[in-house]
Amino acid sequence: MRIWIVCAVLLAGITAFAQAGDMPGPDAEALWTYITKTDPYCKWEYWPDHQGMQPGRSPHGPMHEIRVNHTAMVKGHPKQAGAIVIKDNFSKEKKLLAVTVMYKIQDYNPMAGDWFWVKYGPDGTVLKAGKPKGCIACHGSRADMDYIMVSDH
Ligand code: HEC
Repeated sequence: MRIWIVCAVLLAGITAFAQAGDMPGPDAEALWTYITKTDPYCKWEYWPDHQGMQPGRSPHGPMHEIRVNHTAMVKGHPKQAGAIVIKDNFSKEKKLLAVTVMYKIQDYNPMAGDWFWVKYGPDGTVLKAGKPKGCIACHGSRADMDYIMVSDH
């Protein structure tokens, strides 16, 4: 009996570890593999009150789509560690120009909401990654909304 309990506890521990282990650290290339292969973001849901392609503001593309993973779907701020928000930026002609990502990693950057920021080219080339001052300064106007610009969700 006791052995079974120990096994169950061990198994639960291993499962939790495996789930956390599945998510990449602050590594833009590993994150690209994660969002295109491990858990492809093209299958994620849109930001709840922002369905489909929407007009966007400078400096991002004139059109965009915003998708969120399950962890980021939980309503309210701040988002939990593991939350990923991805914005595809398009030209007026709906050509993909850049993929901008906010990925929350526990204790990564407590000064600015623990977000790991990345800007990729349309083919996954890393253009900016980490704690870019530009991203944080502008999104910082919404620090009370966990640096998320698009809505109050
Ligand atoms: C000058 C202001 C500004 C800068 C700089 C900026 N953003 Fe944004 N960002 C916005 C605005 C405004 C939105 C809302 C959507 C829109 O209008 O395009 C947004 C939306 C986003 C979103 C969707 C989630 C949200 O917050 O609404 C992501 C992801 C994102 N930006 C990532 C980035 C990354 C990564 C960088 C740096 C490479 C960056 N942003 C730089 C203004 C900015």
